[in-house]
Formats: sequence, structure tokens, C-alpha cells
Amino acid sequence: MSLNLKDYVASYPDFPEPGVLFRDISPLLENGEAYHQATNQIVDYAKKLNVDVVVGPEARGFIVGCPVAYDLNIGFAPARKKGKLPGKTVTATYGLEYGQSSLYLHEDAIKPGQRVLVTDDLLATGGTIAATSRLVEDLGGVVAGMAFLVELVDLHGRDNIKQYDILSLMKY
Ligand code: PRP
Ligand code: HPA
Repeated sequence: MSLNLKDYVASYPDFPEPGVLFRDISPLLENGEAYHQATNQIVDYAKKLNVDVVVGPEARGFIVGCPVAYDLNIGFAPARKKGKLPGKTVTATYGLEYGQSSLYLHEDAIKPGQRVLVTDDLLATGGTIAATSRLVEDLGGVVAGMAFLVELVDLHGRDNIKQYDILSLMKY
């Protein structure tokens, strides 16, 4: 019997600021069966796409992407925030509600032509995952698909990533 994954997402009004309804995936992660089911659904998706490597942005993209890469016996490349990755990197800047942020990926993390699954916990405006995808493409990788646990549909993040194949397990 499969679980209803929405039973494992908590909703917090007015976090981190008034007017925001924050969807928190902690209960899903804290439940072995729910975390396994969500991971398996993304693994099945990745198998159909024939991916070579998984890339996820810091921090919660790691939580979703690493178990998928492990299950598929392929690598996981972390896209990290400023000042975290040593060595040669490529970078992409993206907009936040106030100001900007940047993500970095090791230059040798992706080989030209490799098929990549990008993962994150949640799709809001799409800025984070679009920046992550730009890093992959800068290195000659192909974004074969994107997978999220949660999609906040009212924020229309899909409009910023129309060119990609997208899986979201839960929509709010
Ligand atoms: C959150 C979330 C996604 C991103 C979604 O991360 O985990 O990565 O925002 O928003 P977007 O679609 O509007 O870009 P956050 O920047 O809070 O970083 P964290 O994972 O390190 O907490
Ligand atoms: N939950 C978790 N992360 C987020 C959210 C949310 O509702 N909105 C933007 N990032």
C-alpha cells in the first residue's frame, strides 16, 4: 500500500515571515517509509530518462538527490553556495526575493554530453533550479529532467523552466 505523501508535509503559517505558508518536508524525511517511497518514485523517473549523474543545490537538493544517485549507482555532484567549493568552478547567479545568490559547481563535475537529473526539495519561483541547470549546461551536460518533492503552483516556477521535463511528487 502506498502512502499519501502529503500526510508527511507540515504547513506553517507566517514562516519565515508574515503571509508565507511554509511547506516543511521534515516529517517525510523523518519517516523511513515515506522517504523511501518518494525516493523510489524519483528513481523510477530517472531510470526512464537514462541519467548518468544527479546534481542538486545546497542544501535540500542534496537530501533528495543523494539517495537517488546511490540507488542508481551513479554519482552526485553538489551545487554549492559561495565560498564552499575549493578548486575550479563555474558559477550562476539567481534572484531571491531581496537581492541575489550564487551557486557553484566543480568544472569537472559533469562531462560534455552527460545526461543529468537535477533535484531539489521544492519548486517555488524556479530561480534555484534554473541556476543549477545553467551550471550543468555551461559544462556541456544535458538536463534530462528535474525532480522535486513539492511544487508551489501559485508561484508559477514552471514558467521559468518550460524547456525541461519536470516531475513533482506533490503540488500545493
Ligand atoms: C529553498 C528550497 C529550494 C528553493 C526554492 O532553498 O530548498 O532550493 O528555496 O525556491 P525557488 O524555486 O524560488 O528558487 P533555500 O534557498 O531556502 O536554501 P536551503 O535549501 O539551503 O535552505
Ligand atoms: N517551504 C520550503 N522552502 C521554501 C518554501 C516553502 O514553502 N518556499 C520557498 N522555499
